[in-house]
Amino acid sequence: MDLDLKGKRVLVTGGNSGLGAAIAMAFAQEGARVAINYLVDPEQTEALKERIAGSGGEAIGLKADISDPAAVAAMFAALDEAWGGIDVLVNNAGIDGQHALGWEIEPDAWSKVIDINLKGTFLCAREALKRMTAQKSGVVLNTSSVHEVIAWSGYSAYTASKAGASMMAKSLAQEAAPHGVRVLCIAPGAIRTPINREVWEDPEGYADLLEKIPLGRIGEPEDIAKMAVFLASDAASYVTATTVFVDGGMTDYPSFAHGG
Ligand code: BGC
Repeated sequence: MDLDLKGKRVLVTGGNSGLGAAIAMAFAQEGARVAINYLVDPEQTEALKERIAGSGGEAIGLKADISDPAAVAAMFAALDEAWGGIDVLVNNAGIDGQHALGWEIEPDAWSKVIDINLKGTFLCAREALKRMTAQKSGVVLNTSSVHEVIAWSGYSAYTASKAGASMMAKSLAQEAAPHGVRVLCIAPGAIRTPINREVWEDPEGYADLLEKIPLGRIGEPEDIAKMAVFLASDAASYVTATTVFVDGGMTDYPSFAHGG
């Protein structure tokens, strides 16, 4: 299937590592132009740009703290300057934050997760939607998580941010639909990236994780990247205001495979 993404202008936040890097690469392989937003590890951005250029693609790096409105505005201005706007925003940047019970975590540590995952996602969506609604086309894809619906002890800020990103996408989708713009979420399950390295590198943690995944394997970044590319393309032109779970069945209550 030709996804017809050639020349599309795509911005991937948190695009220089983990899911973001795989998503950036997948868009580049479809012929899209990719802007890699990052905040840390500039050498990873350079390496990815080189990989993309090496496979015949076009990529730029844009450093910005997405939780800072002025930095986000400057990033979109740079994108306007480079490519005259944006066709696809993949709101991927995020952190899971400090692992701590709700009554033990410091408010600042809790807020930091919300600032990046929810406010940062909103700020980028806001700038993208200004441009997309004016040009009457575009897609905003938020990376939420299975934890937009699965509670997770020790991660109340993370789960709240992901549930928030999901509901925010639905509301923005209502606003943007009359302008021909789609807004939706992709919800990864446990994917092999740096964010959960401690779990999949530890044999006990890995075994516990597998019990939570009916398909019996951890996901790979490409599992998410392929779906992201599809959802951003016109092949998914009738899909908006929803979340597509890519989780090996994690949200299927695997502990109910027996008993109950
Ligand atoms: C988290 C991972 C976790 C997965 C499944 C994701 O949102 O970032 O650390 O493995 O959810 O629990």
